[in-house]
Amino acid sequence: MRYQIAKGVFDILPKDPHPEGQWRESHIWQFVENVAREIATEYGFQEIRTPLFEATELFTRSVGADSDIVSKEMYTFQDKANRSLSLRPEGTAPIIRSLVENNLDQISPIHKFFYLAPMFRYERQQAGRYRQHNQFGVEAIGSHSPYQDIEVVHLLWNFYERLGLKDLVLQLNSIGDRQARTLFRDALKKFLHPHLDELSSDSQKRYETNPIRILDSKDSNDQKILEGAPKILDFISEESRKHFNFVCEFIDVTGIPYQINDHLVRGLDYYNSTVFEITSGALGAQNSLGGGGRYDGLVEELGGADLPAIGFGTGLERVIRTMIAQKIVPSSSPRADVYLIPLGEEAQRECFKLVSQLRRRHIHAEMDLMGKKLKSAMRVADVAQARWVGVIGDVELQKRQVDLKEMATGSIIPTLFQELEFVLRQTPPS
Ligand code: HAM
Repeated sequence: MRYQIAKGVFDILPKDPHPEGQWRESHIWQFVENVAREIATEYGFQEIRTPLFEATELFTRSVGADSDIVSKEMYTFQDKANRSLSLRPEGTAPIIRSLVENNLDQISPIHKFFYLAPMFRYERQQAGRYRQHNQFGVEAIGSHSPYQDIEVVHLLWNFYERLGLKDLVLQLNSIGDRQARTLFRDALKKFLHPHLDELSSDSQKRYETNPIRILDSKDSNDQKILEGAPKILDFISEESRKHFNFVCEFIDVTGIPYQINDHLVRGLDYYNSTVFEITSGALGAQNSLGGGGRYDGLVEELGGADLPAIGFGTGLERVIRTMIAQKIVPSSSPRADVYLIPLGEEAQRECFKLVSQLRRRHIHAEMDLMGKKLKSAMRVADVAQARWVGVIGDVELQKRQVDLKEMATGSIIPTLFQELEFVLRQTPPS
């Protein structure tokens, strides 16, 4: 019996046999994850890891019962003790749960966390949407300062820039505080009421449950109707406006190109004040590479101190697919420094000892373990992209010396066994 992978998920392989599967090759993932770790650390963020599943109520309370994520997309199940648990659809709520549960909010008022973690959403299958996706995210907890907003946006932008991504646009908006959103919601409903029959069926449903999300609609007729709609920026308080203006002005100074998008409201209930997304033209309809915003009330809502916070999440699948579309993929899997081919049992023992010694000295050494014939062992050395190859038979054993052959140039260096490490370290790469 052969089994197939579940819908909407994928394997990450050392080398994908299909050209269109290049984005699933593990060396690209390692490269991107290393850059993420490096940059988050440089900005003073420390790694946090939370479990794959949490109490369902955590997400209902924070992301919102009426959000698409909670109402349609969660993988929810009962455990054997009849508790309702859900695979995490996003990373922010679990981190705040952990902060409060571990009393970290009592120990220090400032926390800066980053994570690289899989998230689970039962999405309709389409390009750029997966049922398990991987996010790089950060959460900066404890600072009201607009500089904190700018630092977080900067980090995300620099991450993309360090990977070499091009043609990105930062979209910024402020959705104010709860009071502003209540006033705006009423004004928007009043504006949309005469057009209710013309709206798409999704937007008609949202009119009752979550009218602000109608602004997000991709339906072209909805968008036309929305052209004359009230703007949320006209409803935010003086304080929110000052904060937002400061963020925009400073981002301008740092040279990141941005647009104010007054339709950007984000799909999760915990947001307030600054919200942002970075989009890429290379992605088509699902063009959001990453996004985030402030969620100043969430720590308190989940039982902790009254701490403000801001963060982002970016899907690594979309990042990597954009890298491929923009042809900025790092070179493939690492090459072996040396590949030894033993001829005979005694040579095999000797090669194993040599390879073990080299590996202890951090040299990428490989050998044929299967007693293959010379020709097929050479083929394996080729696949390993070994830079140097050495064949060891009776003569070499006797002389304790091997001819190292550089595969790219054909040049040969006779090398004593005891000098292998020295020679491999001395030869400049071809
Ligand atoms: P989000 O916008 O729902 O925000 O997701 C963040 C990013 O994850 C998206 O921009 C996208 O790149 C990626 N993503 C989301 N869903 C999928 C999917 N089904 N398939 C592939 N990629 C996907 C959050 O999750 C917030 N927790 C971000 C945040 C952190 N806000 C504050 N702190």
